Amino acid sequence: MTDEPFVWSPERYGEHARFVSDLGMSVVDLLAPRPGERILDLGCGDGALTLHIVAAGSTVVGVDSSPDMVAAARARGLDARVESGTALPYAAAFDAVFSNAALHWMLDLERVIVEVHRSLVAGGRFVGEFGAHGNVATIVEALHTALDRRGISVASPWRFPHPAEFEALLRASGFDVGAVSSFPRPAALPGDVGAWLETLAGPYLVAVPRRERAFFVAEVVDALRPDLCDDAGGWSADYVRLRFSATKPTAPD
Ligand code: BEZ
Repeated sequence: MTDEPFVWSPERYGEHARFVSDLGMSVVDLLAPRPGERILDLGCGDGALTLHIVAAGSTVVGVDSSPDMVAAARARGLDARVESGTALPYAAAFDAVFSNAALHWMLDLERVIVEVHRSLVAGGRFVGEFGAHGNVATIVEALHTALDRRGISVASPWRFPHPAEFEALLRASGFDVGAVSSFPRPAALPGDVGAWLETLAGPYLVAVPRRERAFFVAEVVDALRPDLCDDAGGWSADYVRLRFSATKPTAPD
């Protein structure tokens, strides 16, 4: 076990995880941003998807807890800010809150949903997608097996709820729920699953002493090969998505 923090790398993300924002385009379609709307992109990362919301004519603020990702988003000309989803400094400031592939990093989802609700105007929409129960389960199991072998224990950095659990959280915070569903979406990876681990599973990797890390990754890659690598050498990740749309009710007359 080490004390090393996990630091996001926008360069690595751009090279090995661009498919995450590419696949998020259908979530932007679900949001259906309109010209002049004020929209918060919660967990905007390097802003690749945020740009598409801006292109619809909306005024967008992107927030992310990673200073490096926010710097990358600002380099694209976006209004991006370092903020935590558990302490959003907004009240009735947005017509919609959008989030793609970010909420599973926010373990205190209960708090985050309260913060989103306060940030929205009455009638505002909360639309997004993130990892559902079962997301990357094969990868998570292989990581834990390799860590157990070394006597290292790591609390999951991700929360992948069942749709019913997430729907209950939305309702408990006062949202009207339009739709919540989950579906498997295996994603083809641009490289091998080792690059995915280096890019997105940092909280697990930094728990392994540096000198052992390359062996650790190679061991996990070997363990995953039978399940996630096809005969032509193409890798995929066993994504399961949770997609939702909800509305903050308008005040009764
Ligand atoms: C996801 O988008 O499902 C994901 C991203 C990083 C780590 C785990 C899951």
